[in-house]
Amino acid sequence: MIKIRITDKLWAVVKLLLEITDLAVEVNEKEILSDIDLYIGKGETHVLLGPNGSGKSTLFMSILGFPKYDITRGEILFKGEDITSLSTTERVEMGIGVSFQNPPAIRGVKLKDLLKIEHHELDKSEDLSPEMMEIVNKLKFDEKFLERDVNLGFSGGEVKRSEILQLLAQEPDFIMFDEPDSGVDIENVELLAEEINILLEKEKKPGLREKSGLLITHLGYILNFVGGDTAHVLMDGKIACSGNPAEILEDIRKEGFKGCVECCQIH
Ligand SMILES: Nc1ncnc2c1ncn2[C@@H]1O[C@H](COP(=O)(O)OP(=O)(O)OP(=O)(O)O)[C@@H](O)[C@H]1O
Ligand SMILES: [Mg+2]
Repeated sequence: MIKIRITDKLWAVVKLLLEITDLAVEVNEKEILSDIDLYIGKGETHVLLGPNGSGKSTLFMSILGFPKYDITRGEILFKGEDITSLSTTERVEMGIGVSFQNPPAIRGVKLKDLLKIEHHELDKSEDLSPEMMEIVNKLKFDEKFLERDVNLGFSGGEVKRSEILQLLAQEPDFIMFDEPDSGVDIENVELLAEEINILLEKEKKPGLREKSGLLITHLGYILNFVGGDTAHVLMDGKIACSGNPAEILEDIRKEGFKGCVECCQIH
């Protein structure tokens, strides 16, 4: 297999934001992911599909740099820089943002205070800046909601929307969403999708978008409202196929992931 290393010069031309090459990941000394190659360009949204336990969240956590996800082979480049051994904090500071599958509740920390930190509002005022309040109002969040402890007693849909609100405060360049639609009813999926579209600058023409995303979804319903450029199917810790999201989803809907297993056996 020929491997092409993307040099700084080439990176500027093709505008790749995230480059994952030959990645293998172990958790508790068990290999969960192997042979992962994934390239995401500036302004692109990629979709990650796969059955339960195929390794989607493991890939998400590995890109984020959680310590218990041990990278045994390969490398991850972000904005042309090798981040494989950087801490999660350093990766977030470089512009990686995440919406977790199951974010924890933080007792004693108000959502408003977390938003202030995430939006780099260092003043002593208890109030959010007018700029941040504009986002809160645009997303139609009740101001009382901001006074509540982060995720404590939030409904499933509120947890997911609070994650998106926090991402809008952080303004990351590359955003990973781990099942943003799980546990969310149909009407709220549409609302959530609108917010994801704001984050990923979908109102701009594709060539003008600066933000990229990796969207993990199980059933793909959210893709009716958030356009994806390329989809990848993860099976048993390997990327089984990549291609047009609509076509891949249609096959999965018809055949389940059974077809992907057969595809894996052929290749
Ligand atoms: N801390 C851990 N120790 C041992 N095995 C783990 C650990 N974390 C994950 N795994 C295993 O890694 C595999 C992949 O899990 P992962 O959570 O990445 O799957 P997923 O594709 O996100 O699944 P789901 O669709 O259910 O969210 C599973 O078999 C899981 O049991
Ligand atoms: Mg998962």
